[in-house]
Amino acid sequence: MPDDSLEKIASEIIGCPLCKLSRNRKNAVPGEGQVSAKIIFVGEAPGKNEDEQGKPFVGAAGRILNIAMEKAGIKRSEVFITNAVKCRPPDNRAPEADELSSCRPYLERQISRISPKIICVLGGTAYSSILGGKSITADRGKLIRSKGQKYFLTVHPAAAIYNKSLRATLENDLFNLSKEIQRIENPDNQSILDYT
Ligand code: URA
Repeated sequence: MPDDSLEKIASEIIGCPLCKLSRNRKNAVPGEGQVSAKIIFVGEAPGKNEDEQGKPFVGAAGRILNIAMEKAGIKRSEVFITNAVKCRPPDNRAPEADELSSCRPYLERQISRISPKIICVLGGTAYSSILGGKSITADRGKLIRSKGQKYFLTVHPAAAIYNKSLRATLENDLFNLSKEIQRIENPDNQSILDYT
């Protein structure tokens, strides 16, 4: 779609009738951030706070994500944050297969419009939906290339709400993600000392 824009995609998401999640939402949550973003973060689905505000990651999981991003030197204002599904599942259950597949074209359009350097996959639902991954616990911290797109895998911030050790895991992973972005931007700057 040559004239696709983030605004056009968002307005389609806001009026989307494609799956049953549309019936009970207060607000769809298309995502937010810059078209120039180098990183797209993809979570699972909006929760209660996100459904009320129409914005991604604004509740407890969002606060954990914000802290981890800040510690890694990643500015929220410079990335794009969205979810695998854009409407809240009832009682915060995991999104179902038909919901993920109805919503996937929106995520694909957001990705192709932004053309990020890396997609940061947050948690197992996004991992299995986007890449067919089986275990985020086993694979977190890894960088993957698939069909010319780089992906970085980490745990979902909500998993770190009650498991404090996962906060350090998330923070460490995002630090490595920021290093990877620096490597992509400065391929010459690979900790090689110039010998003169
Ligand atoms: N959990 C998610 O996966 N996404 C949000 O936006 C908030 C909580």
